[in-house]
Amino acid sequence: MSNQPLFTPTQVGPFKLEHRVVMAPLTRMRSSEGNVPNELMAEYYAQRATQGGLIIAEATPVSPYGFGYAGSPGIFTQAQVDGWRTVVNAVHEKGGLIFLQLWHVGRQSHPLLQPGNIDPVAPSAIKADGDAYAETGPVAFAMPRALALAEIPDIIESFRRGAELAKDAGFDGVEVHGANGYLPDQFLQDGTNRRNDAYGGPIEHRARFLLEITQAVISVWGQGRVGVRLSPSSSYGSMHDSNPKATFGYVATQLDTMGLAYLHVVEPRIKGNETIDEGAKPVAVQYLRTLFNGPIIAAGGFQRESAVALVSEGSADMVAFGRAFIANPDLARRLHDDLPLNTYDRDTFYGGDAAGYTDYPFVGEPVATT
Ligand SMILES: Cc1cc2nc3c(=O)[nH]c(=O)nc-3n(C[C@H](O)[C@H](O)[C@H](O)COP(=O)(O)O)c2cc1C
Repeated sequence: MSNQPLFTPTQVGPFKLEHRVVMAPLTRMRSSEGNVPNELMAEYYAQRATQGGLIIAEATPVSPYGFGYAGSPGIFTQAQVDGWRTVVNAVHEKGGLIFLQLWHVGRQSHPLLQPGNIDPVAPSAIKADGDAYAETGPVAFAMPRALALAEIPDIIESFRRGAELAKDAGFDGVEVHGANGYLPDQFLQDGTNRRNDAYGGPIEHRARFLLEITQAVISVWGQGRVGVRLSPSSSYGSMHDSNPKATFGYVATQLDTMGLAYLHVVEPRIKGNETIDEGAKPVAVQYLRTLFNGPIIAAGGFQRESAVALVSEGSADMVAFGRAFIANPDLARRLHDDLPLNTYDRDTFYGGDAAGYTDYPFVGEPVATT
């Protein structure tokens, strides 16, 4: 199949993209002391920048209480803003665009990652299975403390402030991380939200947190420079919802009224065509496409051929690649020319140094054999 559909221009807010191969947000845990982005990160992102290509920078906590992975960069101090400016400038020098993903992990954390070693927060006191990454290594997620109603405005404000600081750093836009079982997703899905106040219960209430964050961020950036990421059927982080079609259908319908840069949808990791008409069946981009009229980025397990097919059928405008971008700094060129891809090394995904980060070869460079 021709790769052409991936290499036609498209529009994201005020930006003309030259191609539709997007770099997915990827937590790599290589920031410096104080969660400050550094030169190594600037080199990594610059390697992956292309003229008119979109990078969504890694999930970045907007608050010291939003961490679940030691070594993630933050966006709440001046030093972090200055560090990010170096990254952004390096990407802009290559003609690329870069959005920052704004993050709060909620319950996917542990007191070791919290200021004062307090408990992490969540909509309700329900624990997730899995591990956070402390300085000392993996630690099982802790039982979270349910947020009081009066605390919620401060968290929304931290997203607004993070958006403002991202603007100071020179980013082209921001993405609200509403996916993968982190705090906004914990509010959205009824498996993790047992509240009975204005932020829990019916979907109109459960969606309020994400929608208010999105509005707060838009108040900083204006329409067209704010994306939202959702993962409607992912069970990562012990997530589940009794009716994902209704939940995510409602969210997409509401987001459709906000003039977003894009909706970013993590596809369920299943093969073939799924039915979305029955209760708890996976919700995929084809369904959300019927409710959301702006640009859509699809992500999750795509290869060149499946990406081309999805864009060709019109279900998505762009496709984000994660692991393939880790291992292939020049992924867009490789997809364009249908060249073989480097394979990724899972052991160096999280934390460490340049190894497995900035040393993957470009086309034509020898592949290191160690
Ligand atoms: C090492 C690693 C780190 C990730 N970090 C993030 C992140 O910070 N934010 C996010 O939304 N998704 C994150 N993801 C998910 C990816 O963005 C993407 O959705 C996922 O890897 C599936 O796409 P792929 O099959 O092309 O890799 C991460 C995935 C990996 C492998």
